[in-house]
Amino acid sequence: MPALATVRRVADLRAQVHAWREAGDTVALVPTMGALHEGHLSLVRLARREARRVVVSLFVNPTQFGAGEDFSAYPRDEARDSALLAGEGCDLLFAPSAEEMYPPGFATTVAVSGLGEELEGAFRPGHFAGVATVVTKLLIQAGANAAVFGEKDYQQLQLIRRLARDLDLPTQIIPGPIVREGDGLALSSRNVYLDPDQRRIAPALHAVLVSAASALALGAAVSECEAQAREALRTAGFDAVDYVEARRPDDLHRLGPGPLSEPARLLAVARLGRTRLLDNLAVSAPRA
Ligand code: PAJ
Repeated sequence: MPALATVRRVADLRAQVHAWREAGDTVALVPTMGALHEGHLSLVRLARREARRVVVSLFVNPTQFGAGEDFSAYPRDEARDSALLAGEGCDLLFAPSAEEMYPPGFATTVAVSGLGEELEGAFRPGHFAGVATVVTKLLIQAGANAAVFGEKDYQQLQLIRRLARDLDLPTQIIPGPIVREGDGLALSSRNVYLDPDQRRIAPALHAVLVSAASALALGAAVSECEAQAREALRTAGFDAVDYVEARRPDDLHRLGPGPLSEPARLLAVARLGRTRLLDNLAVSAPRA
């Protein structure tokens, strides 16, 4: 299989995308941090259905990792990622260096207030400023017609939709569904950190969200479902539960403690050792 065309400079990315668009081709961008799995590849396939040309970015963004997080340990294998992307018909890999993304003197931050400070934002201070800033840069750099993001990182997706709207970025933001293992565990580049015992416990996160979602859809109270789900996760063997919360789907505003009167999104993070597992699920409102 021919090697995937790769550029490392913003100017080269721009020149290629510009040439495609001049020729009348539409372009879709799929931002990633590499260590690609089926979840990422499903987004590449979705991008291919949306646009004639697909660009994937690979950049392990240092500014979205907190002190003591896994930035240096984060799995990196560009050759493997590149081969997988070539197999999916990706047209271009953009793999910039840290210096290309953050030249000396870099001083600008994009912050999405409210949405960026809650849930993941509260547990990982500065994380979403790092995500919002790098994604804004990538969207401007690529100048694509569309960009695809996974619902796996649901709060991140809503934050990106918000910033694209607020900053009048002309790229359409397209969501991709969560890809799971057969036992329900959402695919994640960080699943490689789980030892065999932890891997056995991990699918309980999805299972607990499924039961909480069906209780909510039958009219159970939000606060009780959240409390029961936290308890069920600890019983299943998780070491800690950062949060299980039902929120309004688009802006993630809090809901009242009683039964749902509108659809919601359940968002959860539970820990196995030092690994934080994220998951989320759509919840329908009870029938009146
Ligand atoms: P990363 O974790 O590599 O994820 C890249 C994209 O793949 C994100 O949109 C994420 O939601 C999606 N994804 C991950 N696992 C998935 C799964 N199981 N099913 C469907 N989609 C999945 O998210 C990031 O990188 C970074 O924050 C980034 C947006 C690239 C900015 O640095």
